[in-house]
Amino acid sequence: MFKTQLLRRVAGAARPQAPRVALRTRQPLISAIRPFASSPYRRDKEPVLDDMDAATTMGSPGESGDHEGQYARTEKSIRVEYPEEDDLPPSQPVQGRGGAHLLRTLAAFSMEGRVGVVTGGARGLGLVMAQALVTSGADVALVDMNRDEAQRSAQGLIDSFKADNPGSDKVPKVTAHFCDVSSPTSVNQSLAEILKTHGKIDNLVTSAGFTENYDAISYPYDRMQKLWGVNVDGTYLYSVAVAKHLMEREAPGSIVMIGSMSGSIVNVPQPQAPYNAAKAAVRHLASSLAVEWAHAGIRVNCISPGYMLTALTKKILDDNPELQKQWTSLIPVGKMGRPEDLMGAVTFLSSDASSYVTVCEHSAW
Ligand SMILES: NC(=O)c1ccc[n+]([C@@H]2O[C@H](COP(=O)([O-])OP(=O)(O)OC[C@H]3O[C@@H](n4cnc5c(N)ncnc54)[C@H](O)[C@@H]3O)[C@@H](O)[C@H]2O)c1
Repeated sequence: MFKTQLLRRVAGAARPQAPRVALRTRQPLISAIRPFASSPYRRDKEPVLDDMDAATTMGSPGESGDHEGQYARTEKSIRVEYPEEDDLPPSQPVQGRGGAHLLRTLAAFSMEGRVGVVTGGARGLGLVMAQALVTSGADVALVDMNRDEAQRSAQGLIDSFKADNPGSDKVPKVTAHFCDVSSPTSVNQSLAEILKTHGKIDNLVTSAGFTENYDAISYPYDRMQKLWGVNVDGTYLYSVAVAKHLMEREAPGSIVMIGSMSGSIVNVPQPQAPYNAAKAAVRHLASSLAVEWAHAGIRVNCISPGYMLTALTKKILDDNPELQKQWTSLIPVGKMGRPEDLMGAVTFLSSDASSYVTVCEHSAW
């Protein structure tokens, strides 16, 4: 029998048969026999452990790899800098999956008549989520710093729609717009351009963002500022611009922010403290703005994906092949997500199907 169980039984047996209320004031027997040590152990000395600590808190030597806690720590030798544009393969819209409306579904999921903006929509998760909105009936403006790829992707979405809906008499309007979301001037310029082309905006999905890996001590300050600039400022600036437009129109709307599981957990083994903090900021920004804009009928939610296989994560895995094994070993369902796994979530949160859902973080992992 385990020692803890044994001690619990001893404590149970020693407990007098008194009413529960009286018991609460009594010191448990276990604390009377076990000294409480609060001083941290010194690195240059072996910690002195009593029998109980040794039996219950330590693994056997070698049991958890080279050193204890190995699989729960970050590894500072892993460094991944966000690649140059030319180093990333372009994304393609999803083909032949769920494009045509052949199955009955709730009308509330339809995005007919809506105009959605997707930042970072040129590729990756943004592109597939934009496709979900188009497939559900919306016109969409792709906003991205990569102008050429955004234009190719906009055309790709129209082509996919036509291929999936050969008899459709209405083809959605999908446009591409340059924007550096971390710049207020650029955000306002692109918003004006979208309004000129589409006339209005009802929905926003903020997917522009990126991650890099450096240990915190070595993280170059300018890169950290850029990371926060795109992930946090970019999300904030675009959301405020769209909310202002909605309030001026006195129209309801929905904003879906793309956070990350990294906003609520610490990923291992790659070190990425600034990214984790940035995504925690996005998560709480969603809650804060949801409360602030509820009076105007503007809903704000956050999707926090786990590891999804996009061009960006593929590049990271190509550079660090061991990572995939470690990542999947930590995912309860045992596999990374596909970008299209987010299509339903973003459609739900953007459409009237979620009209009473706001201030919510939706984890996808
Ligand atoms: N891929 C994953 O596993 C994963 C997991 C959780 C969260 N996320 C988040 O999802 C979002 C999309 O990630 P992805 O994997 O699709 O990345 P991605 O690199 O494939 O796509 C990101 C897009 O954002 C654009 N972009 C970057 N900086 C920009 C800027 N300053 N202004 C405008 N556009 C800019 C890029 O050009 C690119 O088209 C990011 O916010 C990311 O942090 C990704």
